[in-house]
Amino acid sequence: MPQEIKPHGGILIDRLAKGSDRENLLEKASKLLEIKVNERVEADIEMIAIGGFSPLEGFMGQSDYVQVVDHKRLANGLPWTIPITLAVSTETADRIKVDDQVVLSSENGDRLAILTVAEKFQHDKVREAQLVYGTDEEAHPGVKALYDAGEVLLAGPIDVLQLPHHDDFVDYRKTPAEMRALFREKGWRRIVGFQTRNPIHRAHEYITKCALEITDGLLIHPLVGATKSDDVPASVRMKCYQLLMENYYPKDRTLLAVFPAAMRYAGPREAILHAIARKNFGCTHFIVGRDHAGVGKYYGTFDAHYIFDEFEPSEMEITPLFFDHTFYCKRSRGMASFKTSPSNDPEERIILSGTAVREMLSKGQIPPEEFTRPEVAKILIEAFKIPNYAI
Ligand code: ADX
Ligand code: MG
Repeated sequence: MPQEIKPHGGILIDRLAKGSDRENLLEKASKLLEIKVNERVEADIEMIAIGGFSPLEGFMGQSDYVQVVDHKRLANGLPWTIPITLAVSTETADRIKVDDQVVLSSENGDRLAILTVAEKFQHDKVREAQLVYGTDEEAHPGVKALYDAGEVLLAGPIDVLQLPHHDDFVDYRKTPAEMRALFREKGWRRIVGFQTRNPIHRAHEYITKCALEITDGLLIHPLVGATKSDDVPASVRMKCYQLLMENYYPKDRTLLAVFPAAMRYAGPREAILHAIARKNFGCTHFIVGRDHAGVGKYYGTFDAHYIFDEFEPSEMEITPLFFDHTFYCKRSRGMASFKTSPSNDPEERIILSGTAVREMLSKGQIPPEEFTRPEVAKILIEAFKIPNYAI
């Protein structure tokens, strides 16, 4: 009988201060130098606090940073593919010494965490961009975020005073420990996690249901941290997910919860991070389809599959479920992929690009039912009418 999957590194991290510890830290925080962090760093603080980034207890020091960038591993050898770092300006760094404590605050002034500064070091952003993102172009949204951040990295453990405030999706915010408890309650042993930053279209629905055929339960785990401005906002996507959950997924075998991380668009390297994080949330399997976490033309369609070959299954533990490019196949009158479709004729496939779908929706046109459920299209058309969304 499969045991509950262990968190990455063996222990589920919990950096959220409680009780009198928290009271003491709160008092201390009021006297410390304050560093305001952006939405992306807030998301990292939350992921570290709740154990989504186990075994990380804070922001990476130099030996982890170098190993992760160069070798896709932490200094202790565990697989890890994306640096989780806190960058500050040179001026701010000059005011801080190793062993100091500083308080990390949200843009609206909430004191989120105390960082005990263990190290202070420079990072080579262009090198990090090339190795982690595969490009040094600023047009890449992950690279842009890296270039916009400060020059000096502060490293060390964090003690979190409060999670970043969210008034959205409150019922869908579950920590890894809560998620694991829910899986236990349901008696699921094989659980597949699904990462998405898009509305769920028929291709997504197909791969999630294929995965559910061979597991006990499906966790739809949309990323709701920062995404690029032209991605569909999480608030709109959640309406689509809820509608699908209500009408098209089996209620007793599917759970919907949100993944608070920020999107990095690092393609293959982010696929590994996404898988590790979902393992921390208790998933035993993880879906990786076409161009996972990709953007533009920076990654090959299946690079996010190949990268898993660089790690032993025993060190990842979570099992990736790879899917080929899926679409509606007119010949077989059902969803299929390049692997399973009997036809080589492009005319027999319904494949729409993101841009094409966007254009249709913004004109109020419902895309073909074989591409997206009309009820989902209606939600998106309504959202596209609100000019601020600029999706
Ligand atoms: S992202 O995080 O990978 O950017 P996205 O919403 O675009 O999220 O995709 C979610 C998951 O579905 C990813 O694993 C992606 O590879 C997979 N996917 C999306 N579209 C398809 C498709 N047409 N065929 C196969 N897999 C797909
Ligand atoms: Mg995609």
